Amino acid sequence: MFPFAGRSLPRIGYGMGQLARRATSTAGWTEAVALLRRAFELGVRHFDTAQFYGDGLANRLLRAALGDVRDEVVLATKAGAKPVPGAIPLTAAQQPHELREAIEANLATLDTDRLDVVYLRRMDYRPGLLAEGDQIVPLQDQLSELAMLRDEGKILGIGLSHITVEQFHTASPIGITCVQNIYHLLDRAFEPLLTACRDEGIAWVPYFPLGGGGYADLPKVTEAPAVTAVAEELGATPTQIGLAWQLAHAPNTMLIPGTGSTGHLMENTAAGDIALDEDTLARLENGTVH
Ligand SMILES: NC(=O)c1ccc[n+]([C@@H]2O[C@H](COP(=O)([O-])OP(=O)(O)OC[C@H]3O[C@@H](n4cnc5c(N)ncnc54)[C@H](OP(=O)(O)O)[C@@H]3O)[C@@H](O)[C@H]2O)c1
Repeated sequence: MFPFAGRSLPRIGYGMGQLARRATSTAGWTEAVALLRRAFELGVRHFDTAQFYGDGLANRLLRAALGDVRDEVVLATKAGAKPVPGAIPLTAAQQPHELREAIEANLATLDTDRLDVVYLRRMDYRPGLLAEGDQIVPLQDQLSELAMLRDEGKILGIGLSHITVEQFHTASPIGITCVQNIYHLLDRAFEPLLTACRDEGIAWVPYFPLGGGGYADLPKVTEAPAVTAVAEELGATPTQIGLAWQLAHAPNTMLIPGTGSTGHLMENTAAGDIALDEDTLARLENGTVH
């Protein structure tokens, strides 16, 4: 458990990044709603979403699956991009008035009166979209708008996503709930940011927790020889080892693996039960196979 958005939450949550793509037919919708309900039954209480996941579809799935238990779950969403039709289904929406519009859209599709966490998703570096022209907005202007929305009670906590350590220190005085950056066993470039969050008792919510993330050129934790070797020894799956390493590595880590499979969901939620000793952690971190 870790304190998150004013609650003490199980550290394994669920990410909505892919589910909307599976829910475009009636059968797909029904299956996706059932999967989210199953996640709740398995103890998942933290759901990570965005209006731009399927142009509101991910949020509507959450409302359908969890509307009656709304007060028991934490809904974390994002501002900084908006949905558009096309192969890349989102575009930058970084200006303060666009952040406000994103929050209103999320409130409507989630059918809720408050968003537990809203991440400001910055676009200063790749992978993902880069902000250009009038979409390059000073961080302070965005934080002022989000603080206003928090004062209005529309959002309870402010998160930061895809940021730098310097941006974290700039934002920290307004009160930050959590940080969501790329981080996994094979890419620990943001270790100093993780450490800064841990020092301040702020939740660290890695995205692409198993690497890959749909990018062919990004390494996949589940294919690393040390990970597959440890998985075999412990009778676990490589996914579980990648997730268990994250949990063991830092006490403030909150995971949000997404899946469209009930089997994978059960696997992922069970990863919290896997204990990795010091020797195994060192082997994973050094990439040692023996
Ligand atoms: N802030 C940001 O910029 C940002 C960017 C990307 C993602 N996110 C958030 O972070 C979450 C995690 O991101 P992600 O890209 O790593 O994951 P994701 O988009 O949620 O997708 C996870 C992928 O891993 C597979 N998977 C999950 N559990 C598995 C298991 N036990 N065995 C085998 N395959 C498994 C899933 O396939 P199956 O469906 O077949 O299981 C899916 O293809 C997202 O859902 C989203 O909420 C945020």
